[in-house]
Amino acid sequence: MKIVTTVSELVDIINDWQKNNQTIGLVATMGYLHEGHQSLIKKSAEENDRTVVSIFVNPTQFAPNEDLTSYPRDLENDCRLAENSGASLIFAPSAEEMYPNGFNSYVEVVGITDLLEGKSRPTHFRGVTTVVSKLFHLTCPTRAYFGQKDAQQVAVISQMVCDLNFPVQIVVCPIVREADGLAKSSRNTYLSKKERQAALVLSQTLSLAEELIKTGEWRVAAVIQKMTDFINNEPLAQIDYIEIVDAKTLNMAESFTQPVLILLAVKINQTRLIDNLLLV
Ligand code: PAJ
Repeated sequence: MKIVTTVSELVDIINDWQKNNQTIGLVATMGYLHEGHQSLIKKSAEENDRTVVSIFVNPTQFAPNEDLTSYPRDLENDCRLAENSGASLIFAPSAEEMYPNGFNSYVEVVGITDLLEGKSRPTHFRGVTTVVSKLFHLTCPTRAYFGQKDAQQVAVISQMVCDLNFPVQIVVCPIVREADGLAKSSRNTYLSKKERQAALVLSQTLSLAEELIKTGEWRVAAVIQKMTDFINNEPLAQIDYIEIVDAKTLNMAESFTQPVLILLAVKINQTRLIDNLLLV
């Protein structure tokens, strides 16, 4: 497995692969890899001749008050995990390499980026779509792998790929969880032991909602109210949002007759965590 940090080294390798008609899978990450990322890399390695893993804590998707500087980083360990999962190449550029002086172009999806995460993080998705566009252009992937953990990110990137005719297939992979239900996340590392325990409230609330719906609760507002009460019982948790939306449009669901996505963002003390459940 090779590790490159510059665009020109990356492009040379991609050109070689393309000359040999090799299929390329892209797994875009911000590093500090865990089994969630590894599941994407493994799937890509199964389905493509080559797999590129990008590791880049993308400054444009963080607001000034967010955790860009404290975001966990461990490139050495990431390379080991990526290689063990079947990666062919790591692209780990610096911020200057991706955004040199004079950089002034952005890719923006409108509409669905105003909802959910976009309400709390208004500039976030513009950063995501800009960096993912750059990575698509640089790596020319046949397929790109994204986790359902970031359900809205999947919807936004799929919209961008469709609207801007990126010749790539988006493959969505299921959420990987800890044994006790907590969705794996690089940000879980911020949690103290007590907070880690409190963070279980996210997956437990989703299970509660699933149970309520399966046992006949048909009122969306009633489900949200019970979820709210459940989270408010956890003293370390503060709700950012709980929403139940149409799985396709991400507009508010009015019933459970169509596939819905139940999403939540909750702060456990200072750490903001997200989770979701797709009910078809
Ligand atoms: P990051 O949070 O590092 O996540 C990289 C990819 O791993 C995303 O597609 C994410 O959905 C997926 N992932 C994270 N945790 C997961 C889990 N528990 N189960 C399954 N998949 C999981 O998402 C980003 O980085 C960035 O926004 C990025 C797309 C790289 C653009 O900078």
